[in-house]
Amino acid sequence: MHERQGNAPVDGRLGLIQRPRRNRRSEWARRLVREHRLDASDLIWPLFIIEGSGLREPIPSMPGVFRYSVDLAKEAIAHAASLGIPAVALFPNIDPGLRDAVGGNAQSPDNLVCRACREIKAAVPDVGLVTDVALDPYASHGHDGLLEGDEIVNDATVAALVGQALNQARAGADVIAPSDMMDGRVGAIRAALDAAGFEQIQIMSYAAKYASAFYGPFRDAIGTAKTLRGDKRSYQMDPANSNEALREVALDLEQGADMVMVKPGMPYLDIVARVAQTFGAPTFAYQVSGEYAMLTAAAQNGWLDGDRAMMESLLAFKRAGASGVLTYFAVRAAELLRAGA
Ligand code: PBG
Repeated sequence: MHERQGNAPVDGRLGLIQRPRRNRRSEWARRLVREHRLDASDLIWPLFIIEGSGLREPIPSMPGVFRYSVDLAKEAIAHAASLGIPAVALFPNIDPGLRDAVGGNAQSPDNLVCRACREIKAAVPDVGLVTDVALDPYASHGHDGLLEGDEIVNDATVAALVGQALNQARAGADVIAPSDMMDGRVGAIRAALDAAGFEQIQIMSYAAKYASAFYGPFRDAIGTAKTLRGDKRSYQMDPANSNEALREVALDLEQGADMVMVKPGMPYLDIVARVAQTFGAPTFAYQVSGEYAMLTAAAQNGWLDGDRAMMESLLAFKRAGASGVLTYFAVRAAELLRAGA
């Protein structure tokens, strides 16, 4: 084969034995040799919830994404479920008047997320409910943890996160997803869940979460963009690091994480691939708000074919080894998949 591959052309023909293009000539052959596929079962839909009823508020930096009051969230989730989406992740926009320095509303059994969990579970019982554990939506300063002076204090924050996780578990959450990046929170949450009889509740840890500029539109959506004091670099990871992501994932798995996540998604596919290959654990990628905004803005300008770019970006996560993707495109992607895209 090697001898023939470099042969001089004879009558304009290379005399090649290997012609990779043969497998690409027809649609049936391309389907036959395809290595990865995207399926609605790969998708987790993150959605934003607000107080009130009958509300569906647009988010300017995320065209096509809305904040839903719980009644409309239920309908939207029922639609997502009918398209085969297995799970949704809830993110609240808490009334500014309920935010304080310690994120106290996170502990309230009647807070927005808990009420949403109860109502959604009752209305759409077969959808996995993923809840976010971190204090930022509840904190006047927009940080994921407790501030002492200028410092986010680790161990006191973990105690608060444990309380928040138990509160969500009692309200019917299926998957507790700590996005805060404090040290030791997965083990502490696992122990507290087990002690309270919630040993069946899963933990999806944001194990390798980077201090990223791509979270901007999310902070608009939950209302922390203007209040966030400083940045999150003392707890979220340095985008320059890769080995550190493996250490973070190892720690979270040791502490009882059932699933791990890499975040953001597209700029971090190398991390997704390393984590998936190294641990073989269920590995998720979060295609974050800024990624959604980039693709959507380009599509709105006519600079990209939005649907094709979206599907290609989602398939790329599967190719990198992800078990699934959290994406604001989940519903649109599932609609296209249903239509046979
Ligand atoms: C914070 C949190 C963030 C996201 C999910 N949980 C942002 C942040 O760390 O400030 C970002 C998600 C997105 O950008 O889509 N607990």
